[in-house]
Amino acid sequence: MCGIVGYIGHRQASPILIKGLTRLEYRGYDSAGLALVNDNGQLSVYKTKGKVKDLEALVADKDTTGTVGIAHTRWATHGEPSDRNAHPHWSESKNLALIHNGIIENYQSLKTQLLAMGYHFQSDTDTEVIVQLVQYVMDSHKMSLEEAVPLALNTLTGAYAIVIIDKEHPDRMIAARKGSPLIIGVGDDEYLLGSDATPIIEYTDRVVYLDEEQIAFMERGKDLRIVDLRNVEQTPVIQRLQLDLSQIEKGGFPHFMLKEIFEQPDTLRTSMQGRLNVETGEVKLSGVIDFRKRLLNARRIIICACGTSWHAGLIGKYIIEELARVPVEVEYSSEFRYRNPVLYPDDVVIPISQSGETADTLAAIQLSKSSGALLFGICNVVGSSIPRATDTGCYTHAGPEIGVASTKAFTAQVSTLFLLALSIAREKGTLSAERERVLVQELQHIPGKIAKILEQDKTISDIAKVFTYARNFIYLGRGYNYPVALEGALKLKEISYIHAEGYPAAEMKHGPIALIDDEMPVVVIAPKRGHYEKILSNIQEIKARKGRIISVVTEGDTDVKALSDYYFEIPDTEECFVPLLSVIPLQLLAYHIAIAKGRDVDQPRNLAKSVTVE
Ligand code: G6P
Repeated sequence: MCGIVGYIGHRQASPILIKGLTRLEYRGYDSAGLALVNDNGQLSVYKTKGKVKDLEALVADKDTTGTVGIAHTRWATHGEPSDRNAHPHWSESKNLALIHNGIIENYQSLKTQLLAMGYHFQSDTDTEVIVQLVQYVMDSHKMSLEEAVPLALNTLTGAYAIVIIDKEHPDRMIAARKGSPLIIGVGDDEYLLGSDATPIIEYTDRVVYLDEEQIAFMERGKDLRIVDLRNVEQTPVIQRLQLDLSQIEKGGFPHFMLKEIFEQPDTLRTSMQGRLNVETGEVKLSGVIDFRKRLLNARRIIICACGTSWHAGLIGKYIIEELARVPVEVEYSSEFRYRNPVLYPDDVVIPISQSGETADTLAAIQLSKSSGALLFGICNVVGSSIPRATDTGCYTHAGPEIGVASTKAFTAQVSTLFLLALSIAREKGTLSAERERVLVQELQHIPGKIAKILEQDKTISDIAKVFTYARNFIYLGRGYNYPVALEGALKLKEISYIHAEGYPAAEMKHGPIALIDDEMPVVVIAPKRGHYEKILSNIQEIKARKGRIISVVTEGDTDVKALSDYYFEIPDTEECFVPLLSVIPLQLLAYHIAIAKGRDVDQPRNLAKSVTVE
C-alpha cells in the first residue's frame, strides 16, 4: 500500500526520493508524486497516475533541485487513481505539502467544515483534509507549524503516517504516525524517512522506529526531536538495521517472486538456525522460554492472521493440536476484530504476519490486549508494529519479501509454528523424546528436499503453458494439505487473475464436483503420507467426469501418477512436514502460468504487499 519517502540534508533530494519510491514499488500502488523546496524557497509538487517511471518522465524537464523533499506512491482508497488524487497535496496557501498513508475516517465532516470556511479542495482524497486542517489551525490560532500539527492530529479519527514540508521553513520536515508505520534514518547531517526500511538502507543503518501517536521533527543541523500527541517530549531510540542491500535486489532472477521461491532452502535454514539441537532433539525459542508458564498453561490458542499468513495459521492448528494437544482456533483478523469474541486471560493469541503492519491483525491484537491473554507474535519484518505490540514472540527470519505474492514468508511461518509446537510439546510431555528427535532430525532435511523440488522448475514451466487457457482451477487436499490447497489457489488468483478455489478434497462432493468437465484443471495434493487411499478415490471421481488432473505426488508413486494428466514429485517426509514441500510446486505453477499469460507477477493489479488500511 501507500509508500512514503522523505529526505532532508545536504544532498539533492530528488534522486534519493525517486530511488526510494522504486524500492517501495513492491508494496503495490497506482500513482506517484513528489514535492521539493528548491534553494530559492519555491515549493513544487509533481504527481501523476501510473508508475514511478511515469513520474520520472514527468519531472525530467522540471526543476527538481532542493535538499528537502517528500515522495509518495498511492494505493487508492478515497477517490479513483488519477493525477489530482495522487499525493503530495498542497494546503490552501500552497506553503505546505503533505503525504499520507492510512485512512482518515472523519474526513467528510472535517471537509464540510473547511469548505464552509472557504478552503478549496483539489482532490477527492481524505488526505487533503489533513493538510488543509493544519493550515487552518495555523491561520486561525496564529500558530507555528510545529504547534499546529499536534493540535490538528488530535482532531483526526483513523490511521495515518504523514510527512509535511513547509516552504517557509525548508530546514525542517515533520512526520507523525498513528496506525501506519514510519521509520526515520539518522545519517550524518541528514534524515531519511520511509514507510519501511528499504528506501533508507542505502544511506544509513541507524534508524528510529516512530511509535504510535508520535510526532518527529527533523531539522537540518539539529538532533532528532520526538513528542507525543500531547506535546510531551519522548527520547528517540536509535537502532541498527539488520538489512543488507543485496536482500532487496533481484540477484539475477527475472522477478522477486522467483528469487524468493528459490531462496526457500536458505530461508528455512536461517529460520531454524540456532533454534534446533539435532543431537538432543531440543528446540529453543527465547520467546517461549521467557513466557514458559503461560504458554504451558494455555487453555486455548487463537491464531489471528490474513491472507497467506492465515493459511500458515491453519497448518499451525494441525501441528499444535497434534503435537502439543492444545485446542487451536484460527481466525481471520478482520472478522475477529469486529465480533465480540470470548477471550480468557489464560488464552494465548498468536498473530501471524509477514509485514508486521497489517491493520486488521494489529486491531485484533489491540482487542485481545484487554482480555489479559498472552500475545505471542510470529512476524517476518524485524522492528515492525506487530512485534512491538505483542508481549513476546519470534521472528521468522525469511529476510525481506518483495514479491506481492507471499512464498518464502509462508514456509518460514510454517516452520516457525513447528518449532513453537515442538517446544510446547516437549515441556508438556505430549511428545516422546524419541519422536521429537525424529521430527527435529527430519526438519533439518527439509531445505535439501525443497532444493530437489526446485529442480523441476523447467518441467513445471512447460506444464504451466498448457493451462493458460483455463478460466477456473480447483485445488484439493486433505488434512495438512487442505491449507496448502487454499494457498495454491490463492497464489494462482493473485498473480494470474485466474479464478481458483481451494477445497478439502472430501467436500468436493458437496458442490464443486458439479463444476468438473473436460476443461476443468484440478490440482490434487496426493502424497503417500496421510489419507492416500481416500484422495485416490477423489481422483477417480474427477477422472470419471473427465476433469484434467495435475497432481503432487511422493517420489516413486505409481497409482496417482497413472490417473494424472501431469504430476510433480516431492520427496517423502513425515506427514506433518509435507506442506513445506507440497506448496513449492504450486508456487512455481502459479508463477509460470502468470508469466505465460504476461502478468506482472511482482506487482499484480489491485494488490498490496502490506495492507496498512482495513
Ligand atoms: C496482503 C499480501 C499477502 C499477505 C496478506 C497478509 O494481502 O498481499 O501476501 O498474505 O496481506 O499480510 P501479512 O503481512 O500480515 O502477512
